[in-house]
Amino acid sequence: MSGNNKKQFKEIKMSQFDTIHTVENNFAKSNPNYLKGMFGATDVMPLWIADMDFEIAKPIQEALQKLVTRNMYAYEFNTETVFKAISDWNLKRHQLKLNPKSFVQVSGVLTGIGVLIRELSEKGDGIMIQTPVYHQFFKVIESAGRKVIHNKLKVIDGQYQMDFEDMERKLKTQNIKTILLCNPHNPIGRVWTKEELQKLVHLANKYEVTIISDEIHSDIVYSGAHFNSIVSLDSSENHIAVIGSPAKTFGMQSISNGYLYIPNENTFKQVKNTIGSLYLDHGSIHSANATIAAYTKGEEWLDDLLIYLEKTMNWMEGFVQNELPEITIYKPEGTYQVWLDFSKLNISDAALKHLVVNQAKLALTPGDWFESSHTQFMRMNVASPLSKIQQAFHQLKKAINQGVDCSFSEGTSTTDCCSC
Ligand SMILES: Cc1ncc(COP(=O)(O)O)c(C=O)c1O
Repeated sequence: MSGNNKKQFKEIKMSQFDTIHTVENNFAKSNPNYLKGMFGATDVMPLWIADMDFEIAKPIQEALQKLVTRNMYAYEFNTETVFKAISDWNLKRHQLKLNPKSFVQVSGVLTGIGVLIRELSEKGDGIMIQTPVYHQFFKVIESAGRKVIHNKLKVIDGQYQMDFEDMERKLKTQNIKTILLCNPHNPIGRVWTKEELQKLVHLANKYEVTIISDEIHSDIVYSGAHFNSIVSLDSSENHIAVIGSPAKTFGMQSISNGYLYIPNENTFKQVKNTIGSLYLDHGSIHSANATIAAYTKGEEWLDDLLIYLEKTMNWMEGFVQNELPEITIYKPEGTYQVWLDFSKLNISDAALKHLVVNQAKLALTPGDWFESSHTQFMRMNVASPLSKIQQAFHQLKKAINQGVDCSFSEGTSTTDCCSC
């Protein structure tokens, strides 16, 4: 069977990703206390946190089961094998030659970013981010005593793009030491092109600014887009640190570590020393063995997942175009996050939240988490069986068709109560 026929055959069959698994109350996304706290309701479909409702790949299951049945947990470090597995994976998937000796392990991506920010800048320095962006970036910068500098993305012809003029103006004037890049970008789903990254690196070099590139979503890229790691660019090595993890790729959010990759030898030594002195590089053996299994035996599962997610993206795009023109969808080039713009509904921010949470019964991530002015946007995590995503969109359509219901009142105003 040829490669193409094999792919089509897999699409026709029921996919492993169609199976609806019980979403445990212990999971953050469905924990009733979290839901109540975040959304004021518990009877909502949780599509807010960026993790998966799919069973992990069989080889990872087997690696973990082997550890569980062994019932012995003496000190065991497999980091060398992990780094080799990551390097081999990057060569195969991204044609990226990495030196296994330039990695440092950390417990998670945010831990790594927190350490890098502290190593590469001083208190009070500016760290530039491209907003709207993953909301934890604000916290990781501010809690290190650094200043968030916004380089807002622009929408041109329906696509988010970097604003290089604004970037250069701010690099010149705002005491910026580091750019914290998100590639692929959460929540707007862009996979930055080589040309865009080249311009970014050019400006970073010109103003002697380091780049921390969060590439946690690098393997979730759809046809038509191509992921370029920042380290693949010429003359970039002096100014760059990459951070990655198998968490998003393989649905290992609660068991995986993060990995820093720092090509410059001096910066590498400095960061490794700091991390070592805090013992932040002692990951668990579960994480190590699961990561090795994922990167050495998980490729077929990932290829199937990408086909499945792309089918979901195409379905959503068609549904919004044909049945829900009241919202604008930014179909992602990468990530399993979908950025939705509700501003055409022309209702207040509070009315929108009421409509989505209380009427459509959906827990989506509010857009203002990613940048305060994006109150008319929401992010939907779609790494779920297609039937669930279809149900979510049907619920949304029903609620929008009904209009904001009568139980909603915004202070004394009832102007949003348009259907009664
Ligand atoms: C861009 C980005 N970075 C980091 C993280 C979190 O990584 P970790 O849990 O390893 O700290 C996420 C999670 O959604 C993310 O989207």
